[in-house]
Amino acid sequence: MKVLNIGSMNLDYVYEVDHIVLPGETEASVRLNVFLGGKGMNQSMALAKAGVDVYHGGMIGEDGQPFLDACKAYGVNAEYIKIIEGKTGHAIIQVDKNAQNSILLYGGANQRLTEEYVDEVLRHFGQGDFLLLQNEVNQLAYIVDRAYEKGIQVALNPSPFDEKLRTVDLKKVSIFLVNEVEGGQITGLEKPDDVLAKMREMFPEAKIVLTLGKDGAMYAEGDVTYFQPVFAVKAVDTTAAGDTFTGYFLAGLMEGMDIPDILKMSAKASAIAVTRNGAVQSIPMREEVMAALKEEQ
Ligand code: RIB
Repeated sequence: MKVLNIGSMNLDYVYEVDHIVLPGETEASVRLNVFLGGKGMNQSMALAKAGVDVYHGGMIGEDGQPFLDACKAYGVNAEYIKIIEGKTGHAIIQVDKNAQNSILLYGGANQRLTEEYVDEVLRHFGQGDFLLLQNEVNQLAYIVDRAYEKGIQVALNPSPFDEKLRTVDLKKVSIFLVNEVEGGQITGLEKPDDVLAKMREMFPEAKIVLTLGKDGAMYAEGDVTYFQPVFAVKAVDTTAAGDTFTGYFLAGLMEGMDIPDILKMSAKASAIAVTRNGAVQSIPMREEVMAALKEEQ
């Protein structure tokens, strides 16, 4: 069983600010850091740091070499990442003094995937393999259709949610990892219990993870549900907290761990991530997560 993640790679320009800048306002930032990020790459890194042998697919521009270096450093297989002319995607991120963020994306190479490229990557995967996707690359509907035809199990983190997702056949998704906003957009409902119940009705075969920020996370599969509270920490930067949760959750699933243990491990991993700046670099290694969990006992 192989794991492929076709997803975004962004250079994150992270501006520390007093408050998120308001419309029409000019505000001086306190500091600028440039980090490696992108929901796709963050999730591949979380999988790799959790111990999964993951292949990352996607496109970068001529300025994207740092992603290949990071893949090498952390054991993400980068052989299907394609370098094209032009710019790698980037994100302009403001982080305020309460660790709240706002993110503006420039798609760049992430939005230049072609059907030919997708076919070429998927050629190496088949029945029983896993494909993880987010919504920061183009060709999502095509990727889901082709993967499903090949018997590949699709896990989708529909983030950030936009109208393009309405063209994706969500019935072909086996695992959903959604936050409350995305869950609301998929179901048209608001309360977490209602969102989860509706998603179970809409996708009766799927495993569903609903993350609720500081209110924890819920899981549903058939008639079974679980709840996991967050581990309280002093957050400095919440960027990639959800990506960390996603990568660790899938890692646990692939290892056949029990769902409550997977949820606990994922919550602990993302609690550690928010105590650090940046995206890729904030994601903890598995040993650190397990040691921190042991301390809780
Ligand atoms: O989920 C966090 C990520 O969202 C950041 O790394 C940024 O690149 C955006 O894609």
